[in-house]
Amino acid sequence: MRPALPAAEDLQPHLEAICRSGRLTKGPYLERLETAAATHLGVRHAVGVSSCTTGLMLVYRALAELAEQGCRAPAQRECLTASVLSQGRAIATGGEVVMPSFTFLASPAAVVWNGLRPVFVDVDPLSTNARPEVVAAAITPQTVAISACHNFGNPCDLAGLRDVARQHRLPLVIDAAHGFGAKQAGLPVGGGATAQVFSLSPTKLLVAGEGGIVATDCDCLAALVRVGREYGNDGSYDAAFSGCNGRMPEMCAATAWLGLERLEEVAAHRRSIAEAYRAGLGGMTGIEFVAILPDDTSSHKDFSIAVDPEGFGATRDDLRRALALVGIETRAYYDPPCHRQMAFRRFHEGRDDLPVTDMLSARSLSLPIGPHVDAAVIDEVCQTIAACRRQR
Ligand SMILES: Cc1ncc(COP(=O)(O)O)c(C=O)c1O
Repeated sequence: MRPALPAAEDLQPHLEAICRSGRLTKGPYLERLETAAATHLGVRHAVGVSSCTTGLMLVYRALAELAEQGCRAPAQRECLTASVLSQGRAIATGGEVVMPSFTFLASPAAVVWNGLRPVFVDVDPLSTNARPEVVAAAITPQTVAISACHNFGNPCDLAGLRDVARQHRLPLVIDAAHGFGAKQAGLPVGGGATAQVFSLSPTKLLVAGEGGIVATDCDCLAALVRVGREYGNDGSYDAAFSGCNGRMPEMCAATAWLGLERLEEVAAHRRSIAEAYRAGLGGMTGIEFVAILPDDTSSHKDFSIAVDPEGFGATRDDLRRALALVGIETRAYYDPPCHRQMAFRRFHEGRDDLPVTDMLSARSLSLPIGPHVDAAVIDEVCQTIAACRRQR
């Protein structure tokens, strides 16, 4: 893995400017990034935070505050928060958040940090994302929010999930960690939910070093996340609620702000790698790809294949070992799935009802992707996979 960073010579003048100014945090680069990201994502607010995880934690925290204070922008057409919170349920401690288990552990961690309970549901075997009808079936009187993820950068069924959220008057929080570079109907993913929360960590298409963006059309939610990232201090030094230090440093903001200019280029390179893998591995029995809808564009944050042991003649782990033997590093995302991890299994006790998640966890393998991957690397990966299959 190598991060998709701006060229060092392009970054240098900005890092020097930050050093000379002495403003290492809460400065002009954060503002520039937030303005550019909001424009790119097509949302009213892009709030920079220290990570996607912090962003998710702050969104649930802010929603709990909003449920008590009320959202002051109920007439705002785009604001899903206002419509759900005006008549919906308060996000109270102990409330349930319906979410897929086949996602990264930060998603349920943000829920649990807020005293809420994740209710894990199964995903679609082809897209690997949450299915609106499955989410709807898991909603109970205790449900206070719905969460879903754009797994591997493949956009989730946002319209379907939004319908469910509206119908049940629940906020919809999207873990968009893999979202920069992904599009739906030709437009970047980012709007259309209560909040979509992006990661800018080194494995993503847009890199800050560490960082995240909370994208929302709700003025009140954005304002509370801004206060929340400042310990809950709105400047009066009389904390309105308990927040955290969720600030993004200026050097990180400058890196991501510059990176935004090159995002399309980085995304196009990822797409070309994905196409080459599909061409190189397509038709190989036992290797399956993530299904992307014709109207959607995946960011290909990861290029994940599923290894069907019967068709392929070897398990995912056998293949992983064969690749590792020749120095090809892979990731088994997400294994174990969230509902089987030590931190979260107590929320799924006595249940063994997520067969697709278990199957995907056992079979999924993320192949090398990123700026360092060229035709020779792709060829070597495909040849090694083919050889592993032949040897069985
Ligand atoms: C789906 C998902 N959600 C959340 C995160 C956490 O992002 P961060 O490291 O910026 O907190 C990640 C990290 O890669 C992720 O893959």
